[in-house]
Amino acid sequence: MKSSQFTVNLLAWYAQHARVLPWRGDTNPYAVWVSEVMLQQTRVETVVPYYERWMKRFPDLAALARASQQEVLSAWEGLGYYSRARNLHRAAQIVLQEMDGELPGDPRALARLPGIGRYTAGAIASLAFGEDAPALDGNIRRVLARVFNLVEPARSPAGERRLWELAAGHLPPGQAGDYNQALMDLGATICTPSAPTCPECPVSRVCQAQALGIQDQRPVLQKKPATPHYVVTAAVICRDRQVLITQRPLNGLLGGLWEFPDGKLQPGENLADCLQREICEELGVRVNVQDCMGVYRHAYTHFRVTLHAFRCTLHNRIAPLPRQVNDLRWVAPAELPGFPMGKIDRQIARQLLAQEQPC
Ligand code: ADE
Repeated sequence: MKSSQFTVNLLAWYAQHARVLPWRGDTNPYAVWVSEVMLQQTRVETVVPYYERWMKRFPDLAALARASQQEVLSAWEGLGYYSRARNLHRAAQIVLQEMDGELPGDPRALARLPGIGRYTAGAIASLAFGEDAPALDGNIRRVLARVFNLVEPARSPAGERRLWELAAGHLPPGQAGDYNQALMDLGATICTPSAPTCPECPVSRVCQAQALGIQDQRPVLQKKPATPHYVVTAAVICRDRQVLITQRPLNGLLGGLWEFPDGKLQPGENLADCLQREICEELGVRVNVQDCMGVYRHAYTHFRVTLHAFRCTLHNRIAPLPRQVNDLRWVAPAELPGFPMGKIDRQIARQLLAQEQPC
């Protein structure tokens, strides 16, 4: 079958302009898999140093499968969306135990592993195994929606169906890896979300949105609901030169990461009351709330948080128990870097460590 003008121009451009990236040219399925999971919802510039460190620390699938979850979460710390790390780890154990350590090349078999969806399955199958599999990520969606003037919202079921058809329909047999990565690079460098540089685009002559001058209206986006904002209080509880940290339940948001025990403010509550109630519910103890260490802000995918951290002491000698947390530890501040944490808690830990008398 003859390739479309779109595909011919795209591949010719890629041959000249492919970005130089550390995972490019490596068809080792494990390396491709790690890079693709890291690149889910994360920019290339952010991923590069994490990828390089990861491959030194866990150079092959067996090394990853045998590592502890804490080691894996520590290596992932700062990349966000921690379920990706937990799934990658679990999937490596499944592949080692049930598949002789060999990742399958078939996209449907890949998509049965934890954390591998249709996009990642297509990317691994095409880049590592040379399979004729399409892949649709945010960049590719945008390029195809513009070139083929997709009128349906890109994230609607009809839009999704049409985009997968377009990605598959223009895929040049035997060159799926280059085709998929060319689309990713075009979306990242020229066909950008705002102000695309159409004069430099290798496919502008066949781009329907460009012909109609409606590049900025494609892809059609669906309205997102407003993101809620939560006010949270956290307790930095010190005793005998140690500080108390708790481990979040192993599944769910920031699962398995360590933090200073915290909780959401309820309507009508003040910050100190909130903290006392939360610590009592989570750990079964009363605390004296002292001075505020700082106010920290972070935006997650579906909500925003403003967290107020307070120094606290235990009200009496009753020992905290892990009632609503997975685990708890009393640690010297110098030990905090060894525990994987989310962004806000790492900031608090650093601030504590920087103080002359942390506890
Ligand atoms: N985004 C996701 N996968 C990628 C890859 N292989 N190259 C560049 N950007 C990407």
